[in-house]
Amino acid sequence: VLKRTPLIAGNWKMNLDHLQSIAFVQKLAWSLEDAKHDFDSVEVAIFPPFTDLRSVQTLVAADKLSLAYGGQDVSAHDSGAYTGEISGQFLAQLDAKYVLIGHSERRTMHGESDEIVAAKVNAAIKHGLVPVICVGETAEDLEKHGQSAVPVAQLKVALEGLKADADVVVAYEPVWAIGSGQAATPEQAETVGAALRAVVAESLSADAAAATRILYGGSVKSGNIAGFMREPNVDGALVGGASLDIAEFAAIVRYQK
Ligand code: G3P
Repeated sequence: VLKRTPLIAGNWKMNLDHLQSIAFVQKLAWSLEDAKHDFDSVEVAIFPPFTDLRSVQTLVAADKLSLAYGGQDVSAHDSGAYTGEISGQFLAQLDAKYVLIGHSERRTMHGESDEIVAAKVNAAIKHGLVPVICVGETAEDLEKHGQSAVPVAQLKVALEGLKADADVVVAYEPVWAIGSGQAATPEQAETVGAALRAVVAESLSADAAAATRILYGGSVKSGNIAGFMREPNVDGALVGGASLDIAEFAAIVRYQK
């Protein structure tokens, strides 16, 4: 039986400048080291602002930290006249492993359609990055269509045309649970997680479905993480607010303890 390594990821959003990121990463590394965290059993990733990534790279390389990192977005294009955009190649050159794509804040505030998300997923894979594809329903969607319909539809478009063995991570983030303090229940996360895994099986392959990590995100804290991680179709968490507090994030990473 294939065992998926759980992934606990921190999305910093537009918080912590490059100087703050250095102090933060050092303290987080010490905290996890003190706790003798086993990175083989739970992978840890952070998503700092673009301007922090070079500092994070330097620190991770110098101290040989087992900390993965990535960008919060990526351009669908390779290079050229795209003012303000960051290419997948730039991220890959900074040893980024992951990139968030289609976060609900980008979908709602920056008009990212499912098609744009799909183009970005392709760009990420082309440059050797693992896309963390974010999907989720709003409170209105939930009322109108139930819980799984919108995330399932979003994921179908995002995976269109990918190879059967594509390496992706899926993050289920109900929009109503993001930053609201009102997390989904573990049962809700499991229901949607199972539906999303079925999409991966159908769109990619059974092997990819077995290997793909499906994260839950939305008001995850040290007090509720264990409940989510007990569910068979929740393989980790994408943490926003709580990832900015070192003790709290370290406690989420160490949810088994
Ligand atoms: O990407 C993570 C995020 O949207 C969840 O945010 O603050 O509810 O943990 P938060």
